[in-house]
Amino acid sequence: MATLYINEKKKKGHINPEIYGHFSEHLGRCIYEGLYVGENSEIPNVNGMRKDVVDALKEMQIPVLRWPGGCFADEYHWKDGIGPKADRKKMINTHWGGVVEDNSFGTHEFFELCEQLGCKTYVNGNVGSGTVQEMSEWVEYCTFDGVSPMADLRGENGHEKPWKIDYFGVGNENWGCGGNMTPEYYGNLYRRYQTYVRQYNNDAPIQKICCGANAADYFWTEGVLKTCTAAPAPGPDADNPGFMNGLSLHYYVHPGGWENKGSATEFDSKIWYQTLCKAIYMEELIRRHGAVMDQYDPQKKIGMMVDEWGCWFDVEPGTNPGFLYQQNTMRDALVAGITLNIFNKHCDRVKMACIAQMVNVLQAVILTEGPRMVLTPTYYVFHMYRHHQDAELVESYVEGNQSIGEEAAYQVPQISESVSVGEDGTVNITVNNLSVTEDVPMEISFAELVPSRIEAVILTGAMCAHNTFEEPENVKETGFCDYKTEANKIRFTAPPCSVISFRVGQ
Ligand code: AHR
Repeated sequence: MATLYINEKKKKGHINPEIYGHFSEHLGRCIYEGLYVGENSEIPNVNGMRKDVVDALKEMQIPVLRWPGGCFADEYHWKDGIGPKADRKKMINTHWGGVVEDNSFGTHEFFELCEQLGCKTYVNGNVGSGTVQEMSEWVEYCTFDGVSPMADLRGENGHEKPWKIDYFGVGNENWGCGGNMTPEYYGNLYRRYQTYVRQYNNDAPIQKICCGANAADYFWTEGVLKTCTAAPAPGPDADNPGFMNGLSLHYYVHPGGWENKGSATEFDSKIWYQTLCKAIYMEELIRRHGAVMDQYDPQKKIGMMVDEWGCWFDVEPGTNPGFLYQQNTMRDALVAGITLNIFNKHCDRVKMACIAQMVNVLQAVILTEGPRMVLTPTYYVFHMYRHHQDAELVESYVEGNQSIGEEAAYQVPQISESVSVGEDGTVNITVNNLSVTEDVPMEISFAELVPSRIEAVILTGAMCAHNTFEEPENVKETGFCDYKTEANKIRFTAPPCSVISFRVGQ
């Protein structure tokens, strides 16, 4: 028996909706086929964007979308992706399968997609192979409202009004695919490039994101922050430590390590626990990178932006290894549930996170095949957790949370949870049972609240259960009514491999 104590009165921080963000790169079938099929496609679309996919993403409440990469971002030259499509330059996507990129999805298409999704925009600029001028002109092209060379060019290409860039990334993985730089070298480039990411609209300033570390590379975090915070500039940037609003962090879960990622659908319970244990490691990464950040930014003005996270397994047999197309099971659902609970609990520092990637790549929420679309178990977790967006994290604690697992090195707590309170006072509780085999009898105990209105949903199934184009509803969110209430308590049993969401009101 485990008891989840909730002090619904003790608010601990605001959960930024962008923690529930997504990432879409020009990689495999994410953009092309997955999101964009072109206006002449037989697949129903609005201005080239797949209608089924856009509708499902809206239903899931997507808050922000990062584009165009990833590694692709530091090879992308935005001017190749504007103007009449027939005239757009074709390039080789060297990172991802060596395929021809025809640039038919570019800046205008990205903003159109975000407008249809109703989400914020996160554009990632090119430091690795791009110039300061190129980056600066992209920002001018997108956001300047007036007469200027780039604003005029935008008008000639059919969009008079500027768009809004909510977040701008100054390079991606510049310690690796984005230029193999040292932290000091990148830190200095960051200071320089970000200077020309001009704020043309003071009512809607662009949040600038500096390239942070891969996994446990604390040396990078330290080196970049030291360089960026040295000799702060006077003027508007003085208030903005290190000239940045966010510092990114990337972390992928590969159960057998990079060389042995393993199948997405065929695994045993030992690998199940290895995977979940590696997902829980996110907590340590946030704490330790956060401790380095605290030294340079004690007031926590810089957000930790975990703008790439998720499971990275072997590609589906028979598919292009450069396309990173993988299936998605209940194991992915638990990784998502655990990770989002961790982000919620660290909402004082984590201000954005983007799962990699949105459609058809890595831990996708949607898979497509021609005109068919399937929602993955991960999709349902994001849907079930959407009520945490913009809510206040409250104090919660599990008593009797056993350590489980098959190997000493890969023990995990049986229960993962987080709790928030929405503006209308509704308490949102997300609980995961990480055990492959065992039920957990549970009691939720509120400090004061006596529940009278409860809505609950569950996602559960065998550990390898997944949805296919032939059987798209093997795993899906369903109503959960198997609970009892008494005074300030709710009692229920959490089945093995399950994600449960309660919404409780008085
Ligand atoms: O998401 C796939 C790749 O993983 C991204 O392009 C890169 O940033 C990371 O290494």
